[in-house]
Amino acid sequence: MDIFTAIRERRSVREFEKKEIPDEAVRKLIDALLWAPSAGNLQSRKFYFVKDLPAKQKLAGAAFGQGFVASAPLVVVACADTEWVARKYGERGRELYCIVDAACSVMCLMLSAHGLGLGSVWVGAFNESEVAKVLGLPASLKPVALVPVGYPLMTPSPPKRVPTDEAIVFV
Ligand SMILES: Cc1cc2nc3c(=O)[nH]c(=O)nc-3n(C[C@H](O)[C@H](O)[C@H](O)COP(=O)(O)O)c2cc1C
Repeated sequence: MDIFTAIRERRSVREFEKKEIPDEAVRKLIDALLWAPSAGNLQSRKFYFVKDLPAKQKLAGAAFGQGFVASAPLVVVACADTEWVARKYGERGRELYCIVDAACSVMCLMLSAHGLGLGSVWVGAFNESEVAKVLGLPASLKPVALVPVGYPLMTPSPPKRVPTDEAIVFV
């Protein structure tokens, strides 16, 4: 699949088949996470691959009961490493760069998942301290996104985008 098709056709998937993701596909997802750009190439991010059902159920609870989180065979939790980046970039690193680093990885993950015939969705509505508790995160790791990944049971039709002239300013 070419990159433009992947960008246009990826959708947020919230219903998954009860089917495991093959190891080879998981390795490709890991590659996608790791090869994303990052500020100063510090890669101030860490990813938890959650397959354990009780842990996924707790994550769904932390995401205010978004039950589909637990229904995916894999939930990737992307975290920003706030302290590692701050050593070089101070407040800007802590408040912005590490979160953007994690976001870049998540976007690469989601596009790669789509290219592999998998579906995913960015889940950003969750209680941070509850997620941190479920995963036993150190204080330096801030969870940025929960990303359920699996084979799509249903792919929604594309939601509208704003008109180009509302979003883009040519100067
Ligand atoms: C920062 C962020 C937070 C989001 N949080 C949630 C969420 O908590 N639950 C959910 O179902 N979708 C969530 N989404 C997915 C959006 O609803 C979805 O991307 C948007 O409706 C556009 O649909 P599309 O991804 O199919 O193009 C989030 C997306 C982003 C980028």
